[in-house]
Amino acid sequence: MITVEDVGQLRDKLSSRRQQGRVAFVPTMGNLHEGHLTLVREATKYAQTVVVSIFVNPMQFGANEDLDKYPRTFEADRAALQAEGVNVLFFPSVDAMYPKPLEQQTRVEVPNISNLYCGASRPGHFVGVATVVCKLFNMVQPDVAVFGKKDFQQLLVIRRMVEDLAMPIQIVGVDTVREPDGLAMSSRNQYLTEQERSKAPLLRQQLEILANRLRGGERDSEGLQQAFNSALSKGGFIPDYVGIVDADSLLAIDQSTTHAAVLAAAQLGRARLIDNIEVSLD
Ligand code: PAJ
Repeated sequence: MITVEDVGQLRDKLSSRRQQGRVAFVPTMGNLHEGHLTLVREATKYAQTVVVSIFVNPMQFGANEDLDKYPRTFEADRAALQAEGVNVLFFPSVDAMYPKPLEQQTRVEVPNISNLYCGASRPGHFVGVATVVCKLFNMVQPDVAVFGKKDFQQLLVIRRMVEDLAMPIQIVGVDTVREPDGLAMSSRNQYLTEQERSKAPLLRQQLEILANRLRGGERDSEGLQQAFNSALSKGGFIPDYVGIVDADSLLAIDQSTTHAAVLAAAQLGRARLIDNIEVSLD
């Protein structure tokens, strides 16, 4: 595995590797766990060359968010990627990615879905995500890019961007990787105290309960949302949102919805946790 920080070096390296076959790409912000490594393993199934990026993207963090505190564990990440057989690790600096002040950076905005749920709670977040992923795609020029369904809305934003801008890239979504007690793996789980960590699986449990009620035919979204939020509040969380939505549009479900998703975010101590569950409604 080679590590490159510079875009010119990245392009040189990839132009020779491209002759050997397809290039798959996994963008990350580092502090890698089994979830990220599962995406890397998936990527190897699609291509001869696997590129992983580590870049904590300032553009997708709000002013009061955890940009400075976001865990950075480069040496451990590099060792883990090497062990997975990754070919190229791209580790650009903030200056290399954004030579100009952020407000002068050209932006990519995917309308509508970017403003719902996580986008409503974190204004500008998905513009930051779409912009950096677009830039990374132009730098790496992958044939395939792999994303986790843990960030369900993010995956939809990326799919929409690729479709709308006719980017010749196949987007692959990978199921959420969980701890044995059901908690979705996340770099932000480290912000939990031991006591909060023991409460954290409740988010997933309540999503399962809501999903089962939907599967059983209940359609009173408001009642289902209230039950969900009150269970989380009782369990020590501060609920942010819970959406019962069409999995493709993120709009509220209706009679024609066959593929639904329940998306939720809640604060637990210092950590903002998100999770989701897909529900087939045929
Ligand atoms: P990051 O949070 O590091 O996540 C990188 C990728 O790993 C994303 O596609 C995310 O959905 C996936 N992932 C995280 N936890 C997962 C889990 N438990 N199971 C499966 N996949 C998981 O998402 C970002 O970084 C950034 O927004 C990025 C796309 C890199 C743009 O800056």
